[in-house]
Amino acid sequence: MSIAHKAKSLKEQFLLELEELPLKTHDIKLFKDKFLGRNGEVATLFHHLRDIPGDQRPEAGKILNILREDLQSIFQDKIDKRQLNDIANSTIDLTLPGDPKLIGSLHPLTLILNDINRIFYRLGFSVAYGPEVDTDFYNFEALNIPKDHPARDMQDTFYVDDDIVLRTHTSNSQIHTMLENDPPIKIIAPGRVYRNEDISVRSYCLFHQVEGLYVDKKISFADLKGVLIHFTEEMFGKKVKTRFRPSYFPFTEPSAEMDISCLFCEQSGCNICKYAGWLEILGCGMVDPEVFKSVNYDPEQWSGYAFGMGIERIAMLKYRVEDIRLFYEGDVRFLGQFA
Ligand code: PHE
Repeated sequence: MSIAHKAKSLKEQFLLELEELPLKTHDIKLFKDKFLGRNGEVATLFHHLRDIPGDQRPEAGKILNILREDLQSIFQDKIDKRQLNDIANSTIDLTLPGDPKLIGSLHPLTLILNDINRIFYRLGFSVAYGPEVDTDFYNFEALNIPKDHPARDMQDTFYVDDDIVLRTHTSNSQIHTMLENDPPIKIIAPGRVYRNEDISVRSYCLFHQVEGLYVDKKISFADLKGVLIHFTEEMFGKKVKTRFRPSYFPFTEPSAEMDISCLFCEQSGCNICKYAGWLEILGCGMVDPEVFKSVNYDPEQWSGYAFGMGIERIAMLKYRVEDIRLFYEGDVRFLGQFA
């Protein structure tokens, strides 16, 4: 048989076996060795070149070189396709978009609280914390709200037992701080508070407040106004107007509520300010002498102011959130907007 014939039949055999080659790596390796390896079929044909008469050798060599390249490229081709096939047959879909890495962001209430902290920090206030589960004394009695006081109705209380409540406001932190420290006192006390209210767009069974308390000598209502007006300008911008309305809290006398001009309609009237042009944002007043007595401060010597605001309320106004429940649902479509 001539070299050309041998080459042709080797190629046929090669193609036949390649067709039936199993998928296993081990078999592929054996196959390659068998035909293209150092001692494989092609190499053996090259060995036989010796037996070919000298004048025909170059031609035969050429045929074998072509055969070798041919088989190598067919083999490589098959391997490449097989790999594609493997991928196509696997459960991995390379056309799917990758998983984006989600980066967390601060909760809007945290952002607002950070702003509030920063503003008051610059005015010399430090941060104090009180317990969320507290006794009747700290949440009510010491704040001049005795057992039969109608103001208890204002704050639908969750009672743990007769004497222990989930705090209804952060004002309990005032009492803790004053009982543990001598005046002067200059604190803000942020935290979570609880009220047994129906859950709706406007109210939830828990929310967050920041309490402020400044006790020193000769503190006046003018000091309180100055600090709160500065706060609103820092929080909502210089354009915002403020007003104080007389109000009532058992622990402050006199008491007031502070409104800011409506951020939404700039006082031209809208349904958020209920066409009043004003939005209520906090309660405040001069610390009632009865409160000083319950923490053993001499009301003749010391005076002070206190204020309290809802963080949700501020956040809803600042970020134009219309449903308070969004703050607690953990929906990333909502939270992601504050990234
Ligand atoms: N504790 C009051 C409330 O929860 C707010 C307040 C605090 C008012 C301090 C006056 C002074 O409504």
